[in-house]
Amino acid sequence: MSIKRSLKGVSIRLHHLLVLFFLFLGAQGFAADPEVPDSEDAISAGESIFNANCKTCHRLDQKLIGPALRGVTDRRELDWAKKFILNSQAVIQSGDATAVALFKEYNNTVMPAMDFLSDGDLMNLLAYIEYGGQAEAEAAAAEGGAAAGESGGSGGGIPSEYLTIILVVLVVVLILVLVVLGLIVSVLTKYMNNSDKLDAEDKEFINQKTDYLGILKSDGFILIVTTIVLAFVVKTAIDGLYTVGIQQGYAPAQPIAYSHELHAGEYEIQCQYCHTGVEIGKSANIPSANICMNCHMHIQNVGGKEGISPEIAKIYDAVDNNQPIEWVRVHNLPDLAYFNHSQHVAVGGVECQTCHGPIEEMEVVYQHSALTMGWCIDCHRNTEITTQGNEYYDKLVQLHSESKDALKVKDIGGLECAKCHY
Ligand code: HEC
Ligand code: HEC
Ligand code: HEC
Ligand code: HEC
Ligand code: HEC
Ligand code: HEC
Repeated sequence: MSIKRSLKGVSIRLHHLLVLFFLFLGAQGFAADPEVPDSEDAISAGESIFNANCKTCHRLDQKLIGPALRGVTDRRELDWAKKFILNSQAVIQSGDATAVALFKEYNNTVMPAMDFLSDGDLMNLLAYIEYGGQAEAEAAAAEGGAAAGESGGSGGGIPSEYLTIILVVLVVVLILVLVVLGLIVSVLTKYMNNSDKLDAEDKEFINQKTDYLGILKSDGFILIVTTIVLAFVVKTAIDGLYTVGIQQGYAPAQPIAYSHELHAGEYEIQCQYCHTGVEIGKSANIPSANICMNCHMHIQNVGGKEGISPEIAKIYDAVDNNQPIEWVRVHNLPDLAYFNHSQHVAVGGVECQTCHGPIEEMEVVYQHSALTMGWCIDCHRNTEITTQGNEYYDKLVQLHSESKDALKVKDIGGLECAKCHY
C-alpha cells in the first residue's frame, strides 16, 4: 500500500516533468523562430554594416534623411522590415500601404536598394538597430546638461575661447590696477603739496615730470627700436622666401557654396561616399553632380523652407545641361611628384585629417599642410608602418626585428627619389 502510494506520487511528478519538458521544447521551437539576436557579436557586426551603408541617412534615435530606426521591428513585421531594407522601391511599388505612406511622408526620397545584404547581415543590422548605441542615445539625451563640462573634459586642455576670455580679464585687471595706482599717486601728491612740513627741494622732487620726450630722443632708445624693426623685416622676408610656391592656407571660392562643415560635420556623411577613389586609387575624386542628386533630388533647401535655394539650383542646372560643376582645385602637387591616396589611406591607415586638417569643420576647404617635399619626407621618417594584418609585411618585420627602432616608412623605401618622382 505504502509502496503504491509513493509510486503514484512518482508518476505524478513524472507527468509534471513531461509537461515541463514539452513546454521547454515548445519554447525552444519558438526561440528558433527568426527573432532579432541580441549578442554582442551580432550587434557589433550590425554596427559596421550600418555605418558603411545606412549612416548617411539614418540615426537610431533621431530623424535625419530617413526616419529614426530604433523600434522598427516593433512597429513593423520583421519580414516587412527586411524586404524594405533589401529593396524599398519594390515594396513601395507593390502597393504596400505602410510603405507608400512612409515614402510620401519622406517626400518620395528613394532609399537605395541594399540587395547585397545576406539574411545574416540583415539580422545583425536589426540587432544593432534594436540594441546598439544605447550609450549614444543616453549621451544625446544628457547632452544639454553635459555640454559645458564636456568641452573642457574631452580635449584635455583649456578650450581656446576660454583662453581668450582669461586674457581679456587679465588685461582689464591690469588696466584697473594702473588706474588705481595713478589715483593713489595723484592723491598722495596733492596731500604732500598741502603739507607745510616740506621744503622747496622736496616740493620740486614731488612735482617733477618724467621727461618722456627726452627718453624717446635718446640714442639708446633709437638703437633698440631700429634693431627690433630690422629683425622683424628680415624674418618676414625670409619666411616669405620659404613660402614661394607654397599654397598653404589657399582657400579659393567655389562655384557652389558647398559646405563640408554641414555635410561631413553635422550630417556625418562619410568622406568615401563622395570621394570614391581614396581607398582604391591614386586620386580621391571630386564627386559628380549625380552624387549630390542622390540627396538633393529631394532636399532643396536648408531647414525645409519653401522653393529651391539658388545654390541647390546650380546642381540641377549642371545635371540638366550635362555640364560638370567647375570646382576649383585646392590641393595640387607639381607634375614631377607622384602621390597615391589608397597607399596612404587604405594601406597606411593614415586619417584624412592628418594631411587635410579638420575638413569636417571647414565651411570652405583650405589647404592645411605645406605639401612640400620636406613635409612628405618628415612624415616618412617618423611614421611607423601598420603591419598588423598585412601579410606582405610579415617577413620585413621579422628581418627588421634585429634593429632597435620600430619599422618606419623610410625603412621600406619611403625616402627613395623614384618612389615619389616620375
Ligand atoms: C540615401 C538615404 C538612405 C540610405 C543610405 C538608407 N536609407 Fe533607409 N530610409 C531612407 C528614407 C528616405 C526612408 C523613408 C522611406 C522612403 O522614403 O522610402 C527610409 C526608411 C527606412 C526604413 C523603414 C523605417 C520605418 O519606420 O518603417 C528602414 C527599416 C530603413 N530605412 C533601413 C535602412 C537600413 C538598414 C539602411 C542601410 C542598410 C538604410 N535604410 C539606408 C533613406 C535611406
Ligand atoms: C557630400 C559630398 C562630400 C563629402 C561627404 C565630403 N566631401 Fe570633400 N569635397 C566635396 C566637393 C564637392 C569638393 C569640391 C569643392 C570644395 O573644395 O569644397 C570637395 C573637396 C575636398 C577637398 C579639397 C580637394 C581639392 O580641390 O584639393 C578635400 C581635401 C576634401 N574634400 C576632403 C574631404 C574629407 C576629408 C571628407 C570627410 C571628412 C570629405 N571631403 C567629405 C564633396 C564631399
Ligand atoms: C547624403 C545626402 C547628401 C548629399 C550626397 C549631398 N548633400 Fe547637400 N545637403 C544635405 C543635407 C541633409 C543638407 C541640409 C538640409 C537642411 O539642413 O535642411 C544639405 C545642404 C546643402 C546645401 C545648402 C542649401 C541651402 O539652401 O543653403 C548645399 C549648397 C548643398 N547641400 C550642396 C551639395 C552638393 C554640391 C553636393 C554634392 C557634391 C551635396 N550637397 C551632396 C545632404 C546631402
Ligand atoms: C598622406 C597625406 C594624405 C592623406 C592621408 C589624404 N590625402 Fe587627400 N591629398 C593629399 C595630397 C598630397 C593631395 C594632392 C594630390 C595631387 O595634387 O596629386 C590630395 C588631394 C586630395 C583631393 C583632391 C583630388 C585629388 O585626388 O587630387 C581630395 C578630394 C582629397 N585629397 C581627399 C582626401 C580624403 C577624403 C582623404 C581621407 C579618406 C584623404 N584625402 C587623405 C594628401 C593626403
Ligand atoms: C602623415 C604622414 C605621411 C605624409 C604627410 C606622407 N606620407 Fe607617404 N606614406 C605614409 C605611410 C604611413 C606610408 C606607408 C604605407 C604602407 O604601409 O605601404 C607611405 C608610403 C608612401 C609611398 C610608398 C613608399 C614605398 O616604399 O612603398 C609613397 C610613394 C609615398 N608615401 C609618397 C608620399 C608623397 C609624395 C607625400 C607628399 C606629397 C607623402 N607620401 C606624404 C605616410 C605619409
Ligand atoms: C616622399 C616623397 C618624396 C621623395 C622620397 C623625394 N621627393 Fe622630391 N619632391 C617631392 C614633392 C611632393 C615635391 C614637390 C614639392 C613642392 O611642390 O614644393 C618634390 C620636389 C622635388 C624637386 C623640385 C623642387 C622644386 O622646387 O621644384 C626636386 C629637384 C626633387 N624633389 C628631388 C628629389 C630627389 C633628388 C630625391 C631623392 C633624394 C627626392 N626628391 C625624393 C616628394 C619627394
